[in-house]
Amino acid sequence: MSNITLPQRPFGETGLNISPIGLGTVKLGRNQGVKYPSGFELPDDKAASGLISQAKALGINLIDTAPAYGISEERLGPLLSGQRHDWVICSKVGEEFNAGQSSFDFSSEHTRRSIERSLKRLRTDYIDMVLVHSDGNDVDIIERYGILGELAELKRQGLIRAFGMSTKTVEGGLLAAAHSDCVMVTYNLNERAEEPVLDYCAANNKGALIKKALASGHIATPDVHTKNPPQDPIQQSMDFLFQHSGVSSAIIGTINPQHLVSNISKALKALA
Ligand SMILES: NC(=O)c1ccc[n+]([C@@H]2O[C@H](COP(=O)([O-])OP(=O)(O)OC[C@H]3O[C@@H](n4cnc5c(N)ncnc54)[C@H](OP(=O)(O)O)[C@@H]3O)[C@@H](O)[C@H]2O)c1
Repeated sequence: MSNITLPQRPFGETGLNISPIGLGTVKLGRNQGVKYPSGFELPDDKAASGLISQAKALGINLIDTAPAYGISEERLGPLLSGQRHDWVICSKVGEEFNAGQSSFDFSSEHTRRSIERSLKRLRTDYIDMVLVHSDGNDVDIIERYGILGELAELKRQGLIRAFGMSTKTVEGGLLAAAHSDCVMVTYNLNERAEEPVLDYCAANNKGALIKKALASGHIATPDVHTKNPPQDPIQQSMDFLFQHSGVSSAIIGTINPQHLVSNISKALKALA
């Protein structure tokens, strides 16, 4: 298919090794209530399976899902059948998405039930990493619900191998990183506010995943009114992301096979 392959690297101190680009799977499971530049149909099983095989052949071993991504987890269970050990699976707890609406529950009971449900949906007996899916009140969630302690207990019990939080604030990202294995933060050419969290992760050997590395596609398709749009926004994005030593992997959500290859070859160029 291609002679380009991503190398893997250690993910903080988790013992997991991951590719510097991960496959985001919102677009495998949900096309309602999302903020992409244009609408889309969910790919059918043949297309989804082809995308996953292609990602694996290009060296991607990290796949990101969540209960809040519609039917993403349910689809990945059968799609990853027979190749569980080839993948590092990241899922989440805290956010639910039903009938077009998000809701949140960060209680210990829900956290445990949600992970047990993810294990069933994903057809596995362990999840490599689980992140708290924040509603924006990062610090409050950590302090009020003790959710990182509950995830630490589930890790001790062997249901998950690493845990952390997908945060939306600098304070929350720093607090989460201090009390867990890893974080997921927004970082792209347009949104750099959470960079101090990446600085902390670099200094303390914590894992850091990037969400919305292409601003959910808006960087790749700049508004017609954008002054001086970048010549190659994907290459510029990759160069920007990987100049920060705190970035472990950028989770990019694509269902387009050409975009997948192009993103990886540009990531390789940025990493060279
Ligand atoms: N934890 C959280 O709170 C959270 C929040 C958001 C996202 N995430 C995770 O992060 C992943 C990525 O986030 P995201 O999907 O919001 O944003 P993203 O990766 O920044 O952007 C994805 C969008 O960019 C487009 N795209 C990708 N490569 C492209 C290319 N080479 N040229 C043109 N367009 C390209 C994709 O369209 P095509 O399909 O056409 O390529 C898609 O619409 C998600 O799938 C999810 O796993 C987590």
